[in-house]
Amino acid sequence: MNAVPEPVFSFRPMNKADVAAIMPLERVLYTFPWTPGNFTDSLNAGYSCWVCEFGSVLVGYAVLMLGAGEAHVLNIAIGQDWQRQGIGRRFLQHLIKVAREYHADMMFLEVRPSNRAARRLYEDIGFNEMATRRGYYPAHDGREDAILMGLVL
Ligand SMILES: CC(C)(COP(=O)(O)OP(=O)(O)OC[C@H]1O[C@@H](n2cnc3c(N)ncnc32)[C@H](O)[C@@H]1OP(=O)(O)O)[C@@H](O)C(=O)NCCC(=O)NCCS
Repeated sequence: MNAVPEPVFSFRPMNKADVAAIMPLERVLYTFPWTPGNFTDSLNAGYSCWVCEFGSVLVGYAVLMLGAGEAHVLNIAIGQDWQRQGIGRRFLQHLIKVAREYHADMMFLEVRPSNRAARRLYEDIGFNEMATRRGYYPAHDGREDAILMGLVL
């Protein structure tokens, strides 16, 4: 009997061809989405950019900036149909592994106070709230603060 391999979740570096598949997710997931240029600029800048696939389906993506012994998560997202299955947690753990391999001491990220799902994920992983960045994000009624969170690696 021939066993058909089950599709599995895997992480691989993002490339420019992935941006077309990322954009429909990005536009649904964020009120103020990144543009395709933000992703290609990140790739051109040499940031650590990743996608998560289930089989050959792109289900999530992340952009990590590494420099000066620090890691900064600029974007991490899981497609709506794939959320609440532990993929975001595994993706963040993958980014932490990448940052440790780079010998970063700290990982930072910003999150909207209103983004309860992301805040719970980050707190669960061990991130601590470090500061508030006033008016960091665009919002429909002006600007929204960002919470700066940090994790000692
Ligand atoms: C934040 C995000 C990446 C989480 O991805 P995910 O794959 O759904 O997360 P997981 O299934 O790994 O969940 C891990 C933990 O996060 C928390 N969490 C995730 N989604 C949640 C929700 N909707 N409500 C409350 N807690 C939530 C829970 O603590 C969860 O653990 P549990 O399932 O054991 O309760 C996803 O919601 C997303 O892409 N959101 C839109 C983009 C975004 O806001 N990105 C972050 C920008 S700072």
